Amino acid sequence: MTNWPELDSKYIMHTVVRVPLTLVRGEGARVWDESGREYLDFVGGWAVNSLGHCHPVVVEAVAEQARTLMQASNQFYTIPQIRLAELLVKNSCLDKVFLGNSGAEANEGAVKLARRYGQLNLNGAYEVISTFSSFHGRTLSMVAATGQPKFQKPYVPLPAGFLNVEYNNIEAIKSATTDKTCAVMLEPLQGEGGVNIPDDNYLAEVREWCDQKGILLILDEIQTGVCRTGALFAYEQYGVEPDIMTLAKGLGSGMPIGALLAKDRVSVFAPGDHGSTFGGNPVTCAAAYATLKYIIDNDIAGNVRKVGQYLMEGLKGFRDKFQFITDVRGRGLLIAVEFDSDIAQSLLMTCLDKGLLVNRVKPDTLRLMPPLIIGYDEVDQALVVLDEALSGSGN
Ligand SMILES: Cc1ncc(COP(=O)(O)O)c(C=O)c1O
Repeated sequence: MTNWPELDSKYIMHTVVRVPLTLVRGEGARVWDESGREYLDFVGGWAVNSLGHCHPVVVEAVAEQARTLMQASNQFYTIPQIRLAELLVKNSCLDKVFLGNSGAEANEGAVKLARRYGQLNLNGAYEVISTFSSFHGRTLSMVAATGQPKFQKPYVPLPAGFLNVEYNNIEAIKSATTDKTCAVMLEPLQGEGGVNIPDDNYLAEVREWCDQKGILLILDEIQTGVCRTGALFAYEQYGVEPDIMTLAKGLGSGMPIGALLAKDRVSVFAPGDHGSTFGGNPVTCAAAYATLKYIIDNDIAGNVRKVGQYLMEGLKGFRDKFQFITDVRGRGLLIAVEFDSDIAQSLLMTCLDKGLLVNRVKPDTLRLMPPLIIGYDEVDQALVVLDEALSGSGN
């Protein structure tokens, strides 16, 4: 058999510590390795496979569009792009869409839009306030927005115009705001930072502050959006509307797409201000349209709330048995289990051995983000494996 890890280390830049598993096939919430062994997937392509792996409606949409028109210059109108934008607008509080290829690209566009708005409406204000423990992507500007020194230090000097302040602290945002501030950029709940959930009133207070100052609220819903937390967009659960919202990850259910949405009054890009060769690609847009339509028509939000609560209760039930669990937190199907020591990697390996894929989001924290279409049976199966893995790691 080919030694894929060896070839990987020979030819691929070493930017990620891989889990020793080569995936060759996926269906629903399951994936298979090259020897035919099956795994239950609670990583879901990093919160991407919203309808699971290779869902027939997405596969059909991709195949049909690939046979029809694969790519066109954005100088021309293409129908999948317009249909997707219409569906996004009709189901959100935003009015206009720009389509790109990834989360970082969507966030770059959001910051450019906020800066352009600042030039036109806020006397040239350009600074964006974001928070510690956030994650906004890997481009240089998004590394500056991402309030985590481990991502920033290797790349100094970082682009100017970003201030990181404490998350879940409205006073920190207030003190950082100056006449140079054009926007505050936040995740409704922080995913990569460890599934950190703010106080119920935090987003509303930030919204009020932004309104008072006339600055913009950018919500990065790249991880939380498209039903991950049990509503189509997490802002709905906080009763707050952003001026700009970014999406990616789950939007294409596995196809690479990013989107930047904005209110009409904020949509100040003029022709030539922004662009992307592959942004709005017909095939990825067809996949995202099929995903979003399926999610809306089949009340996937309801499934996420029901099954997410069931998973959460199961995990919380472990706390009495395993005293070394210090916290179980999350919303919908974005859940973290925290421990009193750095055992997440060894738990991940034990789960892998037993046929369950989980994510180590921090050395002491596991994260679960399965496809949004999973049912109770799959949760039961995952809970059995986790129970066994936790039983073996008492400390
Ligand atoms: C909240 C958030 N924003 C942005 C990104 C970056 O997205 P991408 O990796 O598609 O550039 C991520 C990725 O994890 C994310 O979770």
